[in-house]
Amino acid sequence: MLETDKEFAGSIPESYDKHMVPMIFEPYAVDLAQRAASFSPGSILETAAGTGVVSRAMTSKLAIGTRYVATDLNQAMLDYARSQQPPDSRVQWRQADALALPFEDAFFDLVCCQFGAMFFPNRSAAYREAKRVLKPGGRFLFSVWDRIEENVFADDITNALAAIFPDDPPRFLARTPHGYYDKDLIRNDLRNAGFLNVEIDTLAEESRAPSPHIVAVAYCQGTPLRSEIEARDPDGLNAATDHAMSALAEKHGTGEVSAKIQAHVIVAMA
Ligand SMILES: C[S@@+](CC[C@H](N)C(=O)[O-])C[C@H]1O[C@@H](n2cnc3c(N)ncnc32)[C@H](O)[C@@H]1O
Repeated sequence: MLETDKEFAGSIPESYDKHMVPMIFEPYAVDLAQRAASFSPGSILETAAGTGVVSRAMTSKLAIGTRYVATDLNQAMLDYARSQQPPDSRVQWRQADALALPFEDAFFDLVCCQFGAMFFPNRSAAYREAKRVLKPGGRFLFSVWDRIEENVFADDITNALAAIFPDDPPRFLARTPHGYYDKDLIRNDLRNAGFLNVEIDTLAEESRAPSPHIVAVAYCQGTPLRSEIEARDPDGLNAATDHAMSALAEKHGTGEVSAKIQAHVIVAMA
């Protein structure tokens, strides 16, 4: 993973929340919130909360006395998340690195993390931190994307950009969001961190967008792929986005588009 892969800042939070979230994150947030609520946790820590799609799905399902702490490495993502939700006395927003959590031992019933683990430079260390802050018997609930070939738009965009930057293709999507999908490796990392009873569900969903233009803008401008494109051509972002859009339109049509997405949802017991 490159250092820039975890930089969700500048105009990325707004573009991410407007385009990426409805396209690929919302269906999984609804599922994660349902799973979390089924455990009836009294206290929840969310790591890598991003622009708050999970916290928005979760708060409607939580009991009145529940304590919910939403954290992310990037303050800009959390600021955006907070601006999208009415004030709620159960919810606290706090900047935190998932690898060095500012919470005492055995504090939470549930730690959840949607599509954040792929960005952690040392997953065993992050999992050890999740285990440390969980009460014994508490649960770690998280999701990661499956391989890029199972996530059609991400694969199409990566292939389209490789055609315009053949000497040094931007590989952010394959390298990071879709780079941690091996179930044996995930189980092993969790076992090394001291988790028991690991269950992994592989869940396919459909990604939908009003047009190929929205898909291209979402991936090329609302993720760290943006910085990779700009590093190769400082004035080339719009041309790269247009090229990706044309490739998508050729394959999926020019109107409303949809394609398969797939992720692993994992529950591990502390
Ligand atoms: C793909 S986004 C997922 C955000 C959100 N969970 C969602 O489902 O939309 C990945 C998030 O991981 C965060 N992140 C990256 N490295 C992190 C770390 N070491 N600790 C906590 N958050 C991190 C980023 O700031 C970004 O918000």
